[in-house]
Amino acid sequence: MSTENPKRYHPVHVVLHWLMAVMTILAIVIGMFVLNPIPDTAEKTSTLQIHALWGGLLALVLVARLITRFTLPRPASANTDSTFLDFVSKAVHFLLYVGVIGMVVSGLGTAVQADLFAVFRGAVPFPADFMAYPPRLGHGFTALALLGLIGLHVAAALYHQFIKKDNLLARMWFGKR
Ligand code: HEM
Repeated sequence: MSTENPKRYHPVHVVLHWLMAVMTILAIVIGMFVLNPIPDTAEKTSTLQIHALWGGLLALVLVARLITRFTLPRPASANTDSTFLDFVSKAVHFLLYVGVIGMVVSGLGTAVQADLFAVFRGAVPFPADFMAYPPRLGHGFTALALLGLIGLHVAAALYHQFIKKDNLLARMWFGKR
């Protein structure tokens, strides 16, 4: 087996990367613009069930991504000729993982404190106000921070693609390795 870095990411990385990107962005946008505006009453139950299930599936994709991140060969890190930007790039990649983990943990924390799984079974009444639970505040702030990080990540990909013109995006797509 060759010890050289491949030119592209492994197809499993590609699938998990784009799946996680789409699932995370949808969870944030729907959380902010569909779920959050609904008043905290029983009418919110089905939207919240879908959100919690989606978050759980996202957690599974994240675990698969972390396992493959450390087990499958990857291309060498991209560089920009700037030590500072290379550091920012590594930090953003790391914080993207931290952000998604933070969303799952704070969402689960809110669910536990609000006894949401008993609410879903109809065993206890719907909580009066999710904002009364500290993890819910963390969930909201982390969502905003994660959106900012996704913005930086997309800006960096566009910089490579259209200013540096090194076709970096092709590495995160299918093709000859
Ligand atoms: C990566 C996964 C997740 C993302 C990106 C996400 C995103 C969001 C966003 C953006 C909001 C609205 C925040 C705001 O506008 O202040 C929200 C609310 C909420 N999420 Fe999540 N979430 C995730 C996972 C979960 C999980 C796993 C659970 C529970 C098991 C959960 C439970 C909740 C609850 C209870 C609310 C509060 C609803 C409200 O106050 O209206 N979330 N989520």
